[in-house]
Amino acid sequence: MNKLPSLRSINEQLDLLERQIASFKNSIGYPINLELDFLAPLQRFMLYPFNNLGNPFEAIHNVLYTWTYEREVLSFVAELYQFPPDEDYHGYVTSGGTESNLQGLFLGRERYPNGRLYFSAASHYSIPKIAHLLNIPHSIVPELESGEIDYEALAAEIALHAEQAVILNLNIGTTMKGAIDDIDRVLAVLQQQKIEQFYIHCDAALSGMMLPFLPDAPKISFQRQGIHSLAISGHKFLGSPFPCGIVLSRHEANVKHIEYVKSLDTTIVGSRNGHTPLILWYTLQTKGYEGIEQEVHTCIANTHYLQQCLNALAYPCLVNPHSNTVLLKTPANHLVRKWDLAIEGDWSHIVVMQHVTREVIDQFLHDLKQSLPLESTETN
Ligand SMILES: Cc1ncc(COP(=O)(O)O)c(C=O)c1O
Repeated sequence: MNKLPSLRSINEQLDLLERQIASFKNSIGYPINLELDFLAPLQRFMLYPFNNLGNPFEAIHNVLYTWTYEREVLSFVAELYQFPPDEDYHGYVTSGGTESNLQGLFLGRERYPNGRLYFSAASHYSIPKIAHLLNIPHSIVPELESGEIDYEALAAEIALHAEQAVILNLNIGTTMKGAIDDIDRVLAVLQQQKIEQFYIHCDAALSGMMLPFLPDAPKISFQRQGIHSLAISGHKFLGSPFPCGIVLSRHEANVKHIEYVKSLDTTIVGSRNGHTPLILWYTLQTKGYEGIEQEVHTCIANTHYLQQCLNALAYPCLVNPHSNTVLLKTPANHLVRKWDLAIEGDWSHIVVMQHVTREVIDQFLHDLKQSLPLESTETN
């Protein structure tokens, strides 16, 4: 049998990990909220194995469930997205944006078993993976320069398969450019094509917790636009030390009651993290609507600051309306490594999250200027 490592060596390895993560706030390339100190009061629950398995809307009282908190998180999102007050919403706190998308598109496929899925080429990689998993016939529609779906190409593609119900994955903030598909334009396409059977899933992984707080941003609405499901990542804008997501839907799958867990089997997975609903609930309680709104405004203001500084350097970049994602030409390798930038082809992005303050932006710009040939900075 292998000898167990000594306690000293275990502690040394933990110290090594701690040193390794010391510079984690230099990570500005991914949409993750790193300002999580406010969650410290929840540490006392860390050693309890909360497991929310089952449908959080059922009336079961298990001491190690956090369903009550989970329902409050869903209710907050239902209100933000104008869920019709006279209808029941469904959903749960998932393991992340991917599972939320899987559940949303699964419900679409359940509703229209012979439907065809449409999504833009700018969609997150989880979407083609889900199409493959669910074995749904699908069309990948080109994207516009902005990253939005190409509405004319969508109309042409739907016309080619006019006999099939339409299942749509629309992006409410694409991964790379933060572009928002215009739901009203898509609804107009469906009307023009005389499509009566359709299902709209909105992937709002990052922007889902930002747009409702921006007065000029498009108002995405279950009631007015008749969308069918919505996915939001929990660890992105709201923030959580454990990845998580939210899915909210009009329907639930036609599923069995499982005697062993005393619940309807409405979720993709069985055992579910019970800490993450508590974390999201605590965030909503302690920050409140105004606290989140303030953070959104600060991130957007800092995004514009970064964009203006890059423009002043004549450094190629793009920022979509209502987005905190700054697409920029990929800088030198050592900067990509130091600042943990995400790359796609020749482009990278910086996602201006809560920890990406003006000081952090100035430090990044300082490094960027130093990496540029002299003549490109001299005039600025
Ligand atoms: C648009 C979009 N959808 C879905 C996801 C998947 O989220 P997760 O990593 O939480 O599964 C992401 C992640 O970056 C995303 O940008």
